[in-house]
Amino acid sequence: MGNNDLTTEISIRKLNDIDDLEKITDLQVQVWGFDYRDAIPAHIMKSIGVGPCTPLGAEIDGKMVGFIYTFPTPNPKKQYLHMIGIHPDYQSKSVGEELFKEQLKQSQSYGIETLEWTYDPLECANAKLYIAKIGGIVEGEYQRDNYGNQDGINDGLPSDRLNVTWRVNSERVKKKFENKNERSLDKIIGPEEILIEVPHNFQEIKKLDFDEAIKWRYDTRELFENFFSQGYHIMDFISKNGTPDGLIKNFYLLEKSENKLIRGENGRNHKNT
Ligand SMILES: CC(C)(COP(=O)(O)OP(=O)(O)OC[C@H]1O[C@@H](n2cnc3c(N)ncnc32)[C@H](O)[C@@H]1OP(=O)(O)O)[C@@H](O)C(=O)NCCC(=O)NCCS
Repeated sequence: MGNNDLTTEISIRKLNDIDDLEKITDLQVQVWGFDYRDAIPAHIMKSIGVGPCTPLGAEIDGKMVGFIYTFPTPNPKKQYLHMIGIHPDYQSKSVGEELFKEQLKQSQSYGIETLEWTYDPLECANAKLYIAKIGGIVEGEYQRDNYGNQDGINDGLPSDRLNVTWRVNSERVKKKFENKNERSLDKIIGPEEILIEVPHNFQEIKKLDFDEAIKWRYDTRELFENFFSQGYHIMDFISKNGTPDGLIKNFYLLEKSENKLIRGENGRNHKNT
């Protein structure tokens, strides 16, 4: 749980009214900078958002600050998480974690066993939340350029994605929510574990040095694809504070059978130690 924990002030509730759902359309624009025509309109969320897929909203002091929204899939025991978004002023304050907690209860009450979704492997807040805080795993699925070329700051950057699987009834998920399963760099690197380092500030890198961002994309793509093809899965995401240069260092933990430390030195020289 983060230093700026606001969990006592967050209230989570199901959203059925069109007025509430319109706030979610507004939030999509605020979080992603979408044009309104690219945001999911309230009437669609109202039509599809029933049962386990009822959108959930997070409020602080009566203000809607975040939401989570899932789609049904052909498998009645599986949901697809389409979007989770937190207003920029309220990110990294555990609002996302609280939304997932409530989504877990809602999904379980309808007999859902698995949720799946994708995210950019270089977005560390997402990785920390999905893998380290709520217990999702990535079972060796890497999608190259999933959405094709995107506009704005992502123009020219392949939209690669990892596929997260979240088994809501698993012991792993239970332990993560109880904070009983925290990993640290001191305790790991067993014979079956690999670390892949990713930059803590990919958004900044995209703005300051786009070539460097592209280099990170291709270097990490190569590493993930290589290890996934050997049967490794992503089982955790570890942040290390207090490094000599004062920066957070972030690592994916992959598990299978060999003991290797893969470091992304400036995104360039990956070496085994
Ligand atoms: C991704 C997102 C949903 C996460 O929600 P959130 O409310 O910020 O999540 P939480 O606060 O519960 O967890 C985020 C964690 O990442 C950590 N974090 C943030 N930036 C980080 C970084 N650069 N490196 C390492 N950890 C980081 C936070 O400190 C927090 O961990 P902590 O609780 O241990 O301190 C939210 O940031 C968001 O809306 N982002 C933009 C939209 C988006 O990407 N949506 C998802 C795709 S649909």
